[in-house]
Amino acid sequence: MEQKLKVGILGATGMVGQRFISLLENHPWFEVVTVAASPRSAGKTYEEAVGDRWKMDTPMPEAVKKLVVLNVNDVEHVASTVDFVFSAVDMSKDEIKAIEEAYAKTETPVVSNNSAHRWTPDVPMVVPEINADHFEVIKDQKKRLGTTRGFIAVKPNCSIQSYAPCLAAWKEFGPKELVVTTYQAISGAGKTFKDWPEMVGNIIPFIGGEEEKSEQEPLRVLGKVENGQIVKAELPKITCQCVRVPVLNGHTAAVFINFEKKPTKEQLIEKLVAFKGFPQEAELPSAPKQFIQYLEEDNRPQVTEDVNYERGMGVSIGRLREDTMFDYKFIGLSHNTVRGAAGGAVLCAEALTAKGYIAAK
Ligand SMILES: NC(=O)c1ccc[n+]([C@@H]2O[C@H](COP(=O)([O-])OP(=O)(O)OC[C@H]3O[C@@H](n4cnc5c(N)ncnc54)[C@H](OP(=O)(O)O)[C@@H]3O)[C@@H](O)[C@H]2O)c1
Repeated sequence: MEQKLKVGILGATGMVGQRFISLLENHPWFEVVTVAASPRSAGKTYEEAVGDRWKMDTPMPEAVKKLVVLNVNDVEHVASTVDFVFSAVDMSKDEIKAIEEAYAKTETPVVSNNSAHRWTPDVPMVVPEINADHFEVIKDQKKRLGTTRGFIAVKPNCSIQSYAPCLAAWKEFGPKELVVTTYQAISGAGKTFKDWPEMVGNIIPFIGGEEEKSEQEPLRVLGKVENGQIVKAELPKITCQCVRVPVLNGHTAAVFINFEKKPTKEQLIEKLVAFKGFPQEAELPSAPKQFIQYLEEDNRPQVTEDVNYERGMGVSIGRLREDTMFDYKFIGLSHNTVRGAAGGAVLCAEALTAKGYIAAK
């Protein structure tokens, strides 16, 4: 790319916003030129606005420290500085819906980490390895919004990334029923142990709204485009419990699965490791070379060993074995703020750029 695309981050001071800032440091296609947050932060430099809230392992990039934070609500002004935006603001669902549409209507593409538009019929919700073809619904969305280049695309919830890719890899065997328990990291709530000390040595058996997302969102990702809308898949039926555990980064999923046509264990592993999609074919900058790894050791995947597999963009699967009640059971692991949040959104933006949906204004 001759000239990098100019990127703005809405909610840049938050946990996911900070992950965007870190991932985009030295990105070959995108350059962060604008950071926006609440009126509380607006007018301060990024460094001042974040203060002691910087939660990344790597230092704050020099290039953003001195950027003056804009107010997310000054839509026209923010939009005039960028080619597209990533959205990671924490507001009410209705406010997020409205503000993301307002940005799209300024002819600024919005790649969102938020859940507000995940079920808007003409908004694609994409894991680029699985359903990059859903981006074709953007043309219908643009008609509704009355835009030529502005649109909204979203990525699904962090909790599904540890098992939904397997369902795509195993499609030909007809995944039919799934019982899932997720063991979710505290960074998924925007927290570290410093600001959530009650989580040390603790487990909380409730994460608001997460079980419904974990049961429903895979079906939309596995669905198809029909008459300008995404129609969700009917199977598999999924039931899920989501549990918060004392882990900083990394959502683990324990899964039981039934198939329409029961395959062998060898077939299942072969399909997992061979699975790839548009990001690998197009060699997108953030694409993991190997999307899904299968680990043979009985004690893997482990958060401390495997969460950063493929720079946090890959998925680790292990312990696949036959079960007494279901066909098989297995364990999955993915990085919730990289693949599950900012990294997944960056990969979506790269796919949208490669497919011509995002370009310089
Ligand atoms: N953490 C994760 O792993 C994860 C994963 C998937 C999805 N999400 C979703 O991503 C979004 C951000 O999550 P987070 O964990 O990064 O939250 P966070 O750390 O609380 O950050 C929230 C961001 O939104 C801004 N903000 C808050 N209220 C605002 C308002 N009224 N107007 C404009 N900006 C406002 C904040 O700005 P100030 O700093 O100025 O207050 C901050 O930049 C949430 O919707 C969350 O549900 C998070």
